[in-house]
Amino acid sequence: MTTSRTRDPKSLRSARWFAPDDLRAFGHRSRAMQMGLGPEDWVGKPVIAILNTWSEAQPCHMHFKSRVEDVKRGILQAGGFPMELPALSLSESFLKPTTMLYRNLLAMDAEELLRGHPVDGVVLMGGCDKTTPALLLGAISMNLPAIYLPAGPMLRGNWKGKTLGSGSDAWKYWDERRAGTISDKDWLDVEAGIARSYGTCMTMGTAATMMAMAETLGMSLPGASSIPAADANHIRMAAATGRRIVDMVWEDLTPRKILRKESFLNAIAAAMAVGCSTNAIIHLVALARRAGHADVGLDDFERASRKVPVIANIRPSGDTYLMEDFFYAGGLPALLEQIREHLDLAAPTVTGRSLGENIAGAEIHDTDVIRPIANPIYREGALAVLRGNLAPDGCVIKPSACAPKFLKHTGPALVFDDYPSMKAAIDRDDLDVTEDTVLILRNAGPQGGPGMPEWGMLPIPQKLVQQGVRDMVRISDARMSGTSYGACILHVSPESYVGGPLALVRTGDRITLDVPNRKLELHVTARELAQRRKAWKPPAPPAGSGRGYTGLFHREVLQADEGVDFRFLGPAKP
Ligand code: FES
Repeated sequence: MTTSRTRDPKSLRSARWFAPDDLRAFGHRSRAMQMGLGPEDWVGKPVIAILNTWSEAQPCHMHFKSRVEDVKRGILQAGGFPMELPALSLSESFLKPTTMLYRNLLAMDAEELLRGHPVDGVVLMGGCDKTTPALLLGAISMNLPAIYLPAGPMLRGNWKGKTLGSGSDAWKYWDERRAGTISDKDWLDVEAGIARSYGTCMTMGTAATMMAMAETLGMSLPGASSIPAADANHIRMAAATGRRIVDMVWEDLTPRKILRKESFLNAIAAAMAVGCSTNAIIHLVALARRAGHADVGLDDFERASRKVPVIANIRPSGDTYLMEDFFYAGGLPALLEQIREHLDLAAPTVTGRSLGENIAGAEIHDTDVIRPIANPIYREGALAVLRGNLAPDGCVIKPSACAPKFLKHTGPALVFDDYPSMKAAIDRDDLDVTEDTVLILRNAGPQGGPGMPEWGMLPIPQKLVQQGVRDMVRISDARMSGTSYGACILHVSPESYVGGPLALVRTGDRITLDVPNRKLELHVTARELAQRRKAWKPPAPPAGSGRGYTGLFHREVLQADEGVDFRFLGPAKP
């Protein structure tokens, strides 16, 4: 896939740094020579930034330290000049209080790194949950030719010959340990076997979802997002990505030429078919708004969820397979080919070809892993958007990953005002709770959290776990991990901290969840709610929100239905 040059090398952005006969350019050239480089490295060559989110606190990106050399190899092969720039690594495993607090910081980091340096195009190296949307947000706003290189999933976990899936099996066996059905030794063995290679979580969590979304949007090479990190195909894909970005610079193929509204609708359809993480809603809405499509929103997810079935039999929506199996079964191109009737196949991509051309003829090699569309694992899409007097601006549930009996449920509320009080009470023997209770957590939203921590899969109270209960209805303005499961209603908007109706619920109020009719209703009269609103006092600002970056986030963040972006970053301007 090579391109004939369609741009004059003098028009390259990097030429502004290196070409002029003036004192400033003298400084740039002499300092490049200080690094052992010479004119043969930069004259007439696109300078390609590589935004590398490697760090020693980022197990999912361990291989980026060497993989970046494969990207550079590709760039050099195609006649470009690579320039690696470290960016925030946002480790989902280690960064507290939540990486979501820092997604927008990495987006700003990416945008400003590109703005400030002498670069013509960029390879974005990400994968662990928030790194994918963050890098893309920054690249869209800067709008230089950009291609995304996904970290790829890690290999399957293993314990006593049983397959272990990231996150999902941690929650599962933690409950078994609390119930006393596995030993401490078993638990330690699960700990040692659940993450046994570099790469991202290998369930269809947020990382796998967002890597698939980047590819469906047209921002990665076809098939790239499904390749396990430890597979040699990943190395070759990295070099091919490096080669392709050089051509993209000559073609001036920028993100906003690729990302049409249809690209986002395609991504939403694919999200449903893969059994996506609930976080996909927040990130795709934010990306669409940055790309100038502020009309992409929750209703688009709802429409897609009514017509696109879940066909990827991957945990947690599926019950057996993991991303490694998905790759062997044909990966994302095979899945997209299967749902082609739901896609706009003319959408452009980084290859210079359309999405339809990229996926044409992609085959499924295992029809139990990637199901034919006539034999899905869940007839409707992975997510459902609910509305009602408890969530006027919407909320989300993942019906494909919850106990079917809760899809229609009415029960009494048990309200926790914040995460610490929930933690302190949830395992008490005297907690007044049954399987029918609806657990409520508030002050965990974008501003109230701040940063919407992944607290939405509230733990099942210990006394119920010991009775064999493994699911119940839980409602919050928080998020949950894409590897989580259960009847968890998330992202309630507006959030309780800003006075959304969730702030007015009292323990004992009855609540109805009706997923088939997309309803979430609080059975309290409008008059009573108005009285409660009058008496409502805003909670104290969350810890850390008085200064610094957390203060900026707290002041400027938008609500969940608007993508949790910063108000001042707004949709991209030409
Ligand atoms: Fe990095 Fe799950 S912890 S992808």
